Amino acid sequence: MTDTILNHETVADWYDFSGRTVLITGGAGILGGEMACMLVGCGANVAIMDRDPSLADRLLDRLGCGPGCAVVVFGDVLKPETLAQAEEQVRAEFGPVDTLVNAAGGNNPRATTGADLSFFDLPPEALRFVFDLNILGTMLPSQVFGRGMAERGEGVILNVSSMNAFRPLTRIPAYSAAKSGVSNFTQWLAVHMAQEYSPRIRVNAIAPGFFLTEQNRFLLTDEETGGLTPRGRAIVEHTPMGRFGDPEDLLGTVLWLLSPASAFVSGVVVPIDGGFSAFSGV
Ligand SMILES: NC(=O)c1ccc[n+]([C@@H]2O[C@H](COP(=O)([O-])OP(=O)(O)OC[C@H]3O[C@@H](n4cnc5c(N)ncnc54)[C@H](OP(=O)(O)O)[C@@H]3O)[C@@H](O)[C@H]2O)c1
Repeated sequence: MTDTILNHETVADWYDFSGRTVLITGGAGILGGEMACMLVGCGANVAIMDRDPSLADRLLDRLGCGPGCAVVVFGDVLKPETLAQAEEQVRAEFGPVDTLVNAAGGNNPRATTGADLSFFDLPPEALRFVFDLNILGTMLPSQVFGRGMAERGEGVILNVSSMNAFRPLTRIPAYSAAKSGVSNFTQWLAVHMAQEYSPRIRVNAIAPGFFLTEQNRFLLTDEETGGLTPRGRAIVEHTPMGRFGDPEDLLGTVLWLLSPASAFVSGVVVPIDGGFSAFSGV
């Protein structure tokens, strides 16, 4: 028990990220970029890491508003040497990374079944690409940036899983299995960090529902008409809130999981899905 009375000021302090150093992999992407802007707005120093840093240009105006600061660094989640370079660069700029968001990930059209590509013909290299990007692409940054957390005895890691992890979606077997692996690894690392290093290191994940971004646009919207595909319509019909998510819909949960407000929460995967995962369809 503590003598502190929980009031507005204490709660506001939880969400003041001043002095925190956050690194976001795939930070130039749609969802990672939204998180970056929010965290700068909450005072954090944010390193946006991506394999194509120029993708972050569209965010620069919003990032410049502060009160925190942002840098854009090169780093490929599948190339440990580039992660080590990014770690050094960010440490020199802001100090050690105390918060890691593993947002890089995605599917691949060649690992997706369809009228002209059966499950039996999915090329091994496309399947491997999806497993590597999502699973290794979460594990390798957790090694590089988690090591410092283990040495200092504190830190927060947030992974990005998916609806696929709870029950697989049709057509995307590798992405479904890989995100299931991300959820499993989230639990594993939460236990490992707390038991082997410090109970002040927490590892959680979010499982976004359906957000229209570059990686799923080809499945959810018709390239020619811009209207929804039958799959896109089915998703909206199966979402009790009746819409796709907006990237901002993720932010409250992300903030909570990165902040001391969730100090006793580790190893969870939180759906942010407009009720999709709760709905039986009837
Ligand atoms: N959109 C959704 O509905 C949804 C739902 C559930 C989960 N998610 C997950 O949410 C995360 C963010 O997805 P998003 O929708 O924001 O997609 P996105 O806009 O494609 O963002 C992903 C970012 O990661 C980058 N990236 C890809 N490979 C990389 C690598 N090897 N090293 C470093 N960066 C790399 C991408 O760069 P390039 O553009 O160069 O590839 C892109 O900037 C992903 O893990 C995704 O699986 C998305």
